[in-house]
Amino acid sequence: MLKFWMAPGGLHVEPAETRDAKDLARIHGQSFYRGWPTADFESFLADRTTPAYVACDAHRRIAGFALIRIAADEAELLTIAVEPRRRGKGLGRALMDAVFADLMLSPARRMFLEVDEQNSAAIKLYEKLGFATISSRKGYYARPDGSAATALVMARDLG
Ligand SMILES: CC(C)(COP(=O)(O)OP(=O)(O)OC[C@H]1O[C@@H](n2cnc3c(N)ncnc32)[C@H](O)[C@@H]1OP(=O)(O)O)[C@@H](O)C(=O)NCCC(=O)NCCS
Repeated sequence: MLKFWMAPGGLHVEPAETRDAKDLARIHGQSFYRGWPTADFESFLADRTTPAYVACDAHRRIAGFALIRIAADEAELLTIAVEPRRRGKGLGRALMDAVFADLMLSPARRMFLEVDEQNSAAIKLYEKLGFATISSRKGYYARPDGSAATALVMARDLG
């Protein structure tokens, strides 16, 4: 089945492929204090339980991605990131909409994620998409200054 979802700015969202690992590591490194190595993305992309989706142009130049894990009837957003210069243009939402559409074809009925309580852009996006905070985890993230950040656990039903 061909999977293809329209995205703003002439881009589209499609499933990630193993060859995308380097681009995903690059965008992840631009987006988080602790980036993940390319080898980690290669492992995720080779594993059917951790599908990823890329927002890209017709030449498959990747501007953002979302990585999820599916376990029985639950899905987890492992990470989502958009290149800094492409943010605020609807790509994060387009990636999440593609994730929701694809999860309709899976057994997952509920989705979870963790987000730094100070990441207001991401929290806004998740709230707009119907996620609600169900708990928090103190000391979950390390900040560059050595302090520990609290994570919010958010969830929403699928389908
Ligand atoms: C979070 C992230 C993926 C959002 O992607 P994006 O393409 O910029 O988001 P969108 O343009 O689709 O925005 C969707 C909604 O999110 C909210 N939002 C996005 N950026 C925002 C910002 N800087 N401030 C406040 N709200 C923001 C808005 O509600 C927006 O809806 P609106 O445009 O109708 O107001 C992006 O900011 C990013 O890559 N951040 C760094 C990595 C990260 O923090 N990932 C989340 C980890 S849990």
